[in-house]
Amino acid sequence: MTALCSQGNERMDKIIIEGSQRLKGELEISGAKNAVLPVMAAMILTAGLNKITGVPRVRDVTTMLHLLNDLGGRTEEFEEDRISLDTTDINNYEAPYDLVSTMRASCLVLGPLLARLGKAKVSLPGGCAIGARPLDLHIRGLEAMGAEIKLEKGYIYGSVERLQGTRYYFDTVSVTGTANLMMAATLAEGETVLENVAKEPEVVFLADVLNKCGAKIEGQGTDIMVIQGVSALKPIECRIFPDRIETGTYMIASAITGGDVNIINCIPSQVETLTLKLRQAGVIVEEAATSIRVIGDGPFNGVNLKTQPHPGFATDLQAQFMALMTLARGQSIILETVFENRFMHAAELNRMGANITVQGHTAVVSGVKRLSGAPLMATDLRASASLVLAALAAEGESIISRVYHIDRGYFGMEKKLSRLGAKIRRKK
Ligand code: EPZ
Repeated sequence: MTALCSQGNERMDKIIIEGSQRLKGELEISGAKNAVLPVMAAMILTAGLNKITGVPRVRDVTTMLHLLNDLGGRTEEFEEDRISLDTTDINNYEAPYDLVSTMRASCLVLGPLLARLGKAKVSLPGGCAIGARPLDLHIRGLEAMGAEIKLEKGYIYGSVERLQGTRYYFDTVSVTGTANLMMAATLAEGETVLENVAKEPEVVFLADVLNKCGAKIEGQGTDIMVIQGVSALKPIECRIFPDRIETGTYMIASAITGGDVNIINCIPSQVETLTLKLRQAGVIVEEAATSIRVIGDGPFNGVNLKTQPHPGFATDLQAQFMALMTLARGQSIILETVFENRFMHAAELNRMGANITVQGHTAVVSGVKRLSGAPLMATDLRASASLVLAALAAEGESIISRVYHIDRGYFGMEKKLSRLGAKIRRKK
């Protein structure tokens, strides 16, 4: 399956942007990365031909597909936005370091492997740019379900006869932690009650998809989920909904360039906290059933922001919003409550002439008149997006390196932006 994962020389790619172009026109949103990854992991719970459409062709999807093939899955189709995967012969329980180290979301196979095979050997993801990101909440929950877990040589070893229903409280809201334990509970013996769970749309979607396969999950979207274990699940068939973080990123792209962009194939209700903040700043946002028009005419004001688990302001849009605030009138105070180190983009934005002071979990942004293009370094997926947004608004040319971060979560970013009039190209 090497064709799926050309990790090769993309690592040296750079994106070059000539700034100060107002974006105008229409842009279509692709499928949600953070919805498709848990659904792909959930395929391990079934033994048959799983079919999903609306899949974004981003690197994390090819990585997850590679991992599922390593575990014994067989890719029957991977065309355009469609994936068919036969999981009848899933028999290998090891998720190797070389795959997990490139994508933390590989931890999502832990629960399904224990539920399906009673064994799992998953490499610990290691830290990443935005923080330590341990898996203690996942591990403690699986232990509460009877799994015996050991951490050795950078791997998580898990084994269990059959997972048992339990009552488990998440000390911190965890999106993939909730997904992992929910998936494990679908095939466990008896009832599992999960408290203080994540309410992200991607978690609700996963629960609904699993229920269509015969799972018995209730309470998704609230603080408490109750799962009755069943003996088997039918293969998954579903269509992935549009990506709310991609939607928010391009809404901000229109605002920061003083543009007029109509974003189609999106779900306005999933980005309403961002819409609120943009309107507070003085940006025009017009919502329709499946599209949002953002018009950034004239100056906009600094507004304060606090990231929180859904339905609060998404931490995955914080870096992009900070880029916008660098050009606002007045001050903006941004509080990042979800991750301990998610302000890496601030230093890069300051190199473009922004005025940001970071103090622990708080960043104070004082708006400036203009940004100037510069050579920039991407550190993680959403920080990279924030640098692209700033470069689109800056005067002069920016060269962004390590753009493989962008390829992990944004399908065809240069093409989509070029169609809106951006002067953006990739240099191999
Ligand atoms: C998911 O990551 C998303 N990834 C992230 O998106 C997103 O930023 C994050 O949720 C928060 O919304 C996927 O869905 C694939 P968490 P996840 O567990 O599940 C701490 C992107 O850009 N924590 O909700 O890994 C953790 O350190 C990515 O697409 C523990 O302490 O995040 C963090 O501070 C980036 N112990 C907080 O909880 C644990 O066992 C929330 O993390 C697990 C998490």
